[in-house]
Amino acid sequence: MRKVILYIAASIDNFIAKPDGNLDWLTDPVYTLKDEDFGYAALLQSIDTTLMGNATYKEILGFDTPFPYPDTTNYVFTRNKDEPDNEFVKFIAGDIAGFTRELKNQTGKDIWLIGGGQINTVLLEEKLVDRIILTIIPVTLGDGIPMFQKGTVETRFKLEKSQAYENGFVQLIYNTK
Ligand SMILES: NC(=O)c1ccc[n+]([C@@H]2O[C@H](COP(=O)([O-])OP(=O)(O)OC[C@H]3O[C@@H](n4cnc5c(N)ncnc54)[C@H](OP(=O)(O)O)[C@@H]3O)[C@@H](O)[C@H]2O)c1
Repeated sequence: MRKVILYIAASIDNFIAKPDGNLDWLTDPVYTLKDEDFGYAALLQSIDTTLMGNATYKEILGFDTPFPYPDTTNYVFTRNKDEPDNEFVKFIAGDIAGFTRELKNQTGKDIWLIGGGQINTVLLEEKLVDRIILTIIPVTLGDGIPMFQKGTVETRFKLEKSQAYENGFVQLIYNTK
C-alpha cells in the first residue's frame, strides 16, 4: 500500500508558519548548505502525488516562482465544492479522509502530505499518516500555525533515523507503530 509521508519543517516551538503564513524564518539563505537538500530530491523520487490544504496552496501561489510541483498529481483539499481544477491541481471537497484512503489503495508511488496544520490534523486523526520526516529549524517563533491542531489525538511513532546538520537543522524520521 502507498504510504502517506508528511515531509515538513517546524520551528523549535512546533510552528510551521508565522500567524500570517510567513515562511521567511525557514527559507533564510543563512541555512543554505552546499550540496545538501535535506532529503528533498529523494522524497520527490519516492512520490507521484501530493496533498495539501487550500491555505497552503494559496501560500504557494503567492511565491514569486512557477508552480513547484508540475510533475506530480496534486490534490488541494477545500470545503468549497465549486473550486475549478486547473493545469496543476485538482480540488477535493467532502470526505477528504475517505478520498485519501482510496488513494492509498491505488497503485502508485508514495504520497507527499505537504500540509498544513488543518489537513495534517484531519489525516492524523484518521490514522492516515504513515511516515513523518520532520526538520526542526533552530528558531522559536512564539506564535504561528501549528503542525497539528490543539487537541489532536495522541498517536505514537517509532523513530527510524535522526540527523543533525551543520546549519543547526535536525531531521527526525518517524513511522507509525
Ligand atoms: N513549514 C512547512 O514545511 C509548511 C508546510 C506546509 C504548509 N505550511 C504553512 O502552513 C500554513 C497553512 O496551514 P493551515 O493549517 O492554516 O491550513 P491548511 O491545512 O494548509 O489548509 C486549510 C484549508 O483546508 C481546507 N480544509 C480544512 N479542513 C478540511 C476538511 N475537513 N475537508 C475539506 N477541506 C478542509 C479548508 O479550505 P477552504 O477554506 O478552501 O474550505 C481550509 O481553509 C501556510 O502558511 C503554509 O505556508 C508550512
